[in-house]
Amino acid sequence: MAHPMIAPSILSADFARLADEASAVEGSEWLHVDVMDAHFVPNLTLGLPVVQSLLAATDIPLDCHLMIDDPGRWAPGYAEAGAYNVTIHAEATDDPRAVARDIRAAGAKAGLSVKPGTPIEPYLEILKDFDTLLVMSVEPGFGGQKFIPDVLGKAKAVRRLVDSGELTLVVEIDGGINADTIEAAAEAGVDCFVAGSAVYGADDPAHAVRALREAAAAVSPHLTLAH
Ligand code: DX5
Ligand code: ZN
Repeated sequence: MAHPMIAPSILSADFARLADEASAVEGSEWLHVDVMDAHFVPNLTLGLPVVQSLLAATDIPLDCHLMIDDPGRWAPGYAEAGAYNVTIHAEATDDPRAVARDIRAAGAKAGLSVKPGTPIEPYLEILKDFDTLLVMSVEPGFGGQKFIPDVLGKAKAVRRLVDSGELTLVVEIDGGINADTIEAAAEAGVDCFVAGSAVYGADDPAHAVRALREAAAAVSPHLTLAH
């Protein structure tokens, strides 16, 4: 039985106090870092220098979600810096496998993300070369959007392949995850839940993380709380 993973997204944190915002969610499995380039998505956030500072400021493994064009050029740098998982978008490159190889060679886990409208079937074969599948449940670019339940079919399809042993992957979901939506995602077979506004918009972010983890474990057929 796997343990539900919660990855608070610092997109909803105070960027002037990132070290404190990371300590506020101590005990989270991953800290989700949204890198946006104002080209692949219509928003601009942060890049490698901020990730390097954050790596020095927290022990939580960093989950870098690169919403950028030309990930082959930039992704290995995040791995070299010490990010635990580096996820690229399937829509941003013609050769996701080559990028995964470079990320792994630079010492990180490699993730593949798909936007809500991108089907998973064309990528099932290459998922063997990845460690994480990040299913977007909102259009990438902004926090605080509404969860799109249609994407859960992709999580279910990949969960089946993981359960049957054909793939070894963390199934992660990102966008609109909160107390109302996490159960449906957990039932669909998600292992790792990104939550931005639901964690950093709460009075007690650490409590919000625990509550989300418990809610996921309570309904999931494949997740349980570690004791
Ligand atoms: C959106 C980002 C998400 C975002 C999620 O493009 O990838 O990680 O922070 O925010 P919430 O949880 O508020 O939808
Ligand atoms: Zn994200």
